[in-house]
Amino acid sequence: MKNVFLLCACFLLLLNCEKEPLAIEICLQKGNPSLIPDVQSLLLGEGSFTLSKSTEIHFQNNIERKDFFTSEISEIQDSLVSNAKVNHLNFKINKDVKGGLEAYKLDISSKSIEVSANSEIGLFWGIQTLKQLCYQYLDSSTLQVQIPELQIKDHPRFEHRGMLLDVCRHFFDKNIVKKYIDLLAYYKMNILHWHLTEDQGWRIEIDKYPKLIDVAAWRADTSGEKYGGYYSKEDIREIVEYALDRNITIIPEIELPGHSQAAIAAYPYLSCSGDSVDVVNDWGVFKEIYCAGNDSTFDFIENVLLEVMDLFPSKYIHIGGDEAPKYRWENCEKCQNRILKEGLKDEHELQSYFITRIEKFLNKNGRDLIGWDEILEGGLSPNATVQSWRGMEHGKTAAEQDHKVIMSPTSHSYFDYDLASIDLKKVYEFNPITRDLAEDKMKYILGGECNLWSEHIPTEENLDSKVFPRILAMTEVLWRYPKERNFKSFYDKVQSQYPFLKSKNVAYGLESVAASIVPLYSMGKSKIKLEPGLTNLELSYRKNDSDEFVLYQNPIFLNFSGKLQVQAKKNGKKYGPILSQNIRVHKALNSKPNYFSNYNSWYEGGGDMALVNGFLGSLDFRDGNWQGFFGDDLEIVLEMGQKKTISDVWFNFYQYNNAWIFLPKSVEIFASTDGKIWEKLAGEVLKDKSKIRGKFIEPVHLLIYPETEVKFLKIKAKNVSVVPNWHEAAGSKAWIFIDEIIVH
Ligand code: ACM
Ligand code: ZN
Repeated sequence: MKNVFLLCACFLLLLNCEKEPLAIEICLQKGNPSLIPDVQSLLLGEGSFTLSKSTEIHFQNNIERKDFFTSEISEIQDSLVSNAKVNHLNFKINKDVKGGLEAYKLDISSKSIEVSANSEIGLFWGIQTLKQLCYQYLDSSTLQVQIPELQIKDHPRFEHRGMLLDVCRHFFDKNIVKKYIDLLAYYKMNILHWHLTEDQGWRIEIDKYPKLIDVAAWRADTSGEKYGGYYSKEDIREIVEYALDRNITIIPEIELPGHSQAAIAAYPYLSCSGDSVDVVNDWGVFKEIYCAGNDSTFDFIENVLLEVMDLFPSKYIHIGGDEAPKYRWENCEKCQNRILKEGLKDEHELQSYFITRIEKFLNKNGRDLIGWDEILEGGLSPNATVQSWRGMEHGKTAAEQDHKVIMSPTSHSYFDYDLASIDLKKVYEFNPITRDLAEDKMKYILGGECNLWSEHIPTEENLDSKVFPRILAMTEVLWRYPKERNFKSFYDKVQSQYPFLKSKNVAYGLESVAASIVPLYSMGKSKIKLEPGLTNLELSYRKNDSDEFVLYQNPIFLNFSGKLQVQAKKNGKKYGPILSQNIRVHKALNSKPNYFSNYNSWYEGGGDMALVNGFLGSLDFRDGNWQGFFGDDLEIVLEMGQKKTISDVWFNFYQYNNAWIFLPKSVEIFASTDGKIWEKLAGEVLKDKSKIRGKFIEPVHLLIYPETEVKFLKIKAKNVSVVPNWHEAAGSKAWIFIDEIIVH
C-alpha cells in the first residue's frame, strides 16, 4: 500500500507542479466504502458523484455553523481542481431523520450530495463520514474525488464515546490537545475526559488559589529539573470552544479525596497533618489526601469547582474518587470526629460522605457527578454516574442499582498498557454491556472510554503510538452495534486509515505484539509455541545471540536454557522489535502443581503451570510470566513424578513498591516422598529491602545439603501482607510476585 502511495505522490508531483499541493497524500482507492466507525446502514448505487473545486455548498437558513462546516469541506475541496460542471452539496435539518440527535443521513447521487440530520450534531457526523469517503476516493491524478452513489443512515450505539487524557503525569500542550480533538471528531468520538489534577501536577488555573499554578503545577524531577505546566483560563476557554465546534464535550476531572498531593503541596492546610509536602515526582498511589474532617477542605474544593463549572459547560464533572488510602483519616482526630458526629461506620463511609457532600454541591449547581468505581464503597451517592475501571463488575453493580455507568475496564480500555495486554483485536472484542446484565438495566450503560494514563507517555509520539491504531477499534465498538463483527475485515479497514493518519502527523504504533511465546505441555515434554500476533505475520527465531534467525514452522523443544528471540515480518518488512524470552530447564519442569493458596486472577502468570513452565519473568511485571499473590502467602506443593535428587532451589521474586509488590519476608522448602510426611530442607529470612524504590528482581538461592531424594516439594513464601506504615499506600494489601521455582 505504502509503495503504491509513494508512486502516486511522485507521479502527482511530475504532472501537477504548478497546482496547489495536496493537503493530504492519499491515493485513489477502489472498492467499497471503508469507514471507521462503520455505519449502521449503507446502500450502494451504480454511478458516482464528482466533488471538485466547483462543487457549491448550500445550507438551509437555520443552520448556524455554516462557516465552520464549510471549512471542514474546504480542507479537501481546496486541494482539488475545478470542474466545468457545477454540482451541489446540500445541508439540511430534517426532523424526520431517525436515531436521535447524533443521527444523520447521507444521500449521494450523481448530481448532488445531501447531508441531513435533525440537529447540527448529526450534520457534523455526516460531514465526518463524507470526509472519510473523500479521502478514500480521492484520485490523485485528476485531483478530483469520485464518490460512489450511496445512501447512508447512521446513528451511534452509545451516547458516551470517550478518551481520557492524563495531562498530569506528563503535560501535553494546547496544540496536542487540539490535535486529539480533531482526531476524536474524525472518528466520531464525542467525549474528551480531561484528567487535570493529580499528585504529580495540577494543570488548571484557578483565580482564587494562585499557588495551584505557582506551586502545584511544578515538580522537581528525579534528576532535580523542574517539570510541569498548566492551562490558563484563556487556554481552557479556547480548547472547550474548539471541542464544542467539533461535537466534543470535555469532561474535566478534578480528583478527590485522593491523588491530591500537588494541591496539598500548595496549600498544606488541606491535609490531615497540615505538614508541608512536595509535589510527587514518582508513580503510584499516595497517602496524602484531603482531610475529610476539615470544613475548610470542602470550602476549597467548592471554590475550585465553581471556577471549573464556569469554564466547562459539560453536564458532568468527574471527581475521581479512586485509590484514596485511608491511613491519614484513620489517624486524624478531625476525621475521626467527623465519623462520630455523622454516625458513620468507618473510613469507607467517610469517603461516601465526602463524595455525597460534593455531589450535593454539584447538583445544586445544575451538574452531575461522575466518579471511579471506588465510589461504590461505603454507599453510592444518590445521582452519581460510575466509571468502572477495576473490571466491569462494579459497573454492573451500579447499573443494577439504577445508576448510570461508563465502562473503561483495565482489561480492554487501558491504552497505557502495552500490546501484550491489550492489542487491536482485544479492543475490538470489547463490549461495554456485560453478558449477564438484565435487559432493563442495559440503558444505564452510557458507553465507554479508553484511558491514556501518562506515567509512561512522556511525548506526543509516545501518545500517538499508544492511542493509534487501538482507538479505531474503540470507536467501532462504541458506535456500531455488534452484529457482523469481523476482525479480518476491520483489520483491512484499519490499513486504509494509515495514509490519513500519516498525513496528520500521527506516529501510530503497532496493532499487536509481533508474537506470543507460549509454553506447551504434551506427554510430559515441554515445547514452545510461537503464535503470531496477526495472521499475516511470518515468524523466525534463534536460541542464541550469535545464531541466524530460522523460520518458525513447528513448536520448539524446550530443552535449552537461555534467551529465545523472535522476529516478525509483515509483507517482508520487520514488524516490531525483536521479542525475547528467558528460558530455564530444571528438574521441576512440568511437575504437577498443587496450590494451597490462591494466585490472583489479575496476575496469573500463565495459570497453574506458571511456576514450572521454564519461563522466567522480565522487569515488566505485566509480561505474563509473573504470578501474583495479593495479601496472601504463597504455598504450593510440586509433585515431581519419580523421585529426584535435588541440590538447590532458586526463586526469583519481584519488587516494585510503587505498585505494592514486595519481596516476601521468608521462604521455606519442605520435602516428602509420600506427600504426607514433610521434612524441612531449607529456609531463609530475606533481608528487608521494602524501602528500595524502583523495579528489581531478587534471586533467592537455597542450597539443599546434603543432596536429598524427593518426590514432593512444598514451598512456602510469607507475604508482608499489608503495605507498611511508612508507605504512601499504607494498609493496602501487598503483593508477592514469583515467576518460577527452579530446582536443580
Ligand atoms: C484508575 O485507573 N485509578 C482509575
Ligand atoms: Zn483528617
